[in-house]
Amino acid sequence: MAKINPVSGYETCLERVLISEEQLKSRIAELGAEISRDYAGLCPLLLCILRGGVVFLTDLMRSLTVPHHIDFMAVSSYGVGARVSSGSPRIVLDVNTDIAGRHVLLVEDIVDSGHTLDHVLRLLQTREPASLKVCVLLDKAERRVVDIPIAYRGFVIPDEFVFGYGLDVDEVYRNLPFIGVLKKEYQ
Ligand code: PRP
Repeated sequence: MAKINPVSGYETCLERVLISEEQLKSRIAELGAEISRDYAGLCPLLLCILRGGVVFLTDLMRSLTVPHHIDFMAVSSYGVGARVSSGSPRIVLDVNTDIAGRHVLLVEDIVDSGHTLDHVLRLLQTREPASLKVCVLLDKAERRVVDIPIAYRGFVIPDEFVFGYGLDVDEVYRNLPFIGVLKKEYQ
């Protein structure tokens, strides 16, 4: 397997662009409009799962017309540098807000096996939110092991290693404005 050199540009390891910056913008505007309609008058809490979800959150929240709060959780499922889900997620940083009685919308970059969201949903449900829904940018549907109720979905994607727009390759390239596919020799 070829190694990622973090100081070289992403071009070396990019096979192709899967979702362009324009496609992301337009889909996120649609999601924002839908969420704004559904949560009118409810002041939802957008709960972002770090780190991958953060780029999506910042664009999604600016596409909302409804007032909302934000907060963060960190869950480790792959571990830094690992490429395969361990299947046993760990809460690294818990949410700081009391979610009892709140309308909570979880914001994630990608759902793969579903283990991470399943774990988070079960935990949060015990805290009695008024509602708890999931908004995910990328759904790698064919990899699903645990069924996850997804209320808002950006794109269904094939089973390929993707990066950019919050998603990393060995912790770099999260800043790219598009979603790219990693060349086979780097996987
Ligand atoms: C990624 C992603 C999801 C999870 C999805 O997180 O952000 O949280 O994997 O996989 P699953 O559906 O198989 O559980 P990762 O552990 O790579 O951390 P990161 O967001 O900090 O990059």
